[in-house]
Amino acid sequence: MKLLDGKVVLITGAARGIGRAIALSCAQAGANIAFTDMNADDNFTSLEKELASFGVKAKGYVSNAADFSSTEKTVEEVVADFERIDVLVNNAGITRDALLMRMSEEQWDLVINVNLKSVYNLTKAVQRTMLKQRSGSIINMSSVVGVSGNAGQSNYSASKAGLIGFTKSIAQELGPRNIRANAIAPGFIETEMTKAIPEEARQAWTEKIPLRRAGQAEDVANLVVFLGSDMSSYISGQVINVCGAMLT
Ligand code: NAI
Repeated sequence: MKLLDGKVVLITGAARGIGRAIALSCAQAGANIAFTDMNADDNFTSLEKELASFGVKAKGYVSNAADFSSTEKTVEEVVADFERIDVLVNNAGITRDALLMRMSEEQWDLVINVNLKSVYNLTKAVQRTMLKQRSGSIINMSSVVGVSGNAGQSNYSASKAGLIGFTKSIAQELGPRNIRANAIAPGFIETEMTKAIPEEARQAWTEKIPLRRAGQAEDVANLVVFLGSDMSSYISGQVINVCGAMLT
């Protein structure tokens, strides 16, 4: 018996990076996978195939997590296709870094909508199904900078801090119905998002990490498998850092 056997996991923004690793790790642990992303590109279609090779049911949905009505429609389709949703992973996220002096209203709004409003959209759309099931695990992808702040990322940090407040509130609101909510705060994880950082700056970051390495997407995915499984059935309302002790 695998940790996620028979469970249905819905992951946003899973075509690449951390979301992709989460989808693959959950499928390996026996879960059926519904995932979303913005476009049905090569990453998207190859993920559908890779997931199916684990012998689980897998389907991708083109859907913008920041869009309320598109999200409602997508979640309806997922429930029609999979009949239930046991785990929701709000993973989709973007950066538009700038010092406040140079940050445009557009950069602010986009990051808040994609990183924070999306979490409201998805959780609201999924809650009816989880309430009916009287079980569920909601996992929201925050960041260490949502806890500590970071110069040049006031929009991103605000969105990731807001998501922590949302997670703790939902854990209290839905706990009596056996629905759990937790946030993960990754540190410096090697993905497309962090590839943009120049090599010198990457080295400087790594030196500040007590485990002396950047994290891998799988390091985050392993925690998602645990939080999605019944092994974590008494863990809710928490923020768990995956950062090699960068933030203690
Ligand atoms: P990534 O940029 O490699 O992948 C993000 C995925 O989300 C892409 O496939 C993208 O198309 C999709 N996406 C973007 N906007 C979307 C939307 N509106 N609707 C649906 N899908 C959308 O990013 P990465 O590094 O994998 O990050 C995943 C999550 O982890 C994000 O929430 C990010 O903020 C968070 N995170 C990442 C860290 C890192 O070091 N890479 C550190 C801390 C948090």
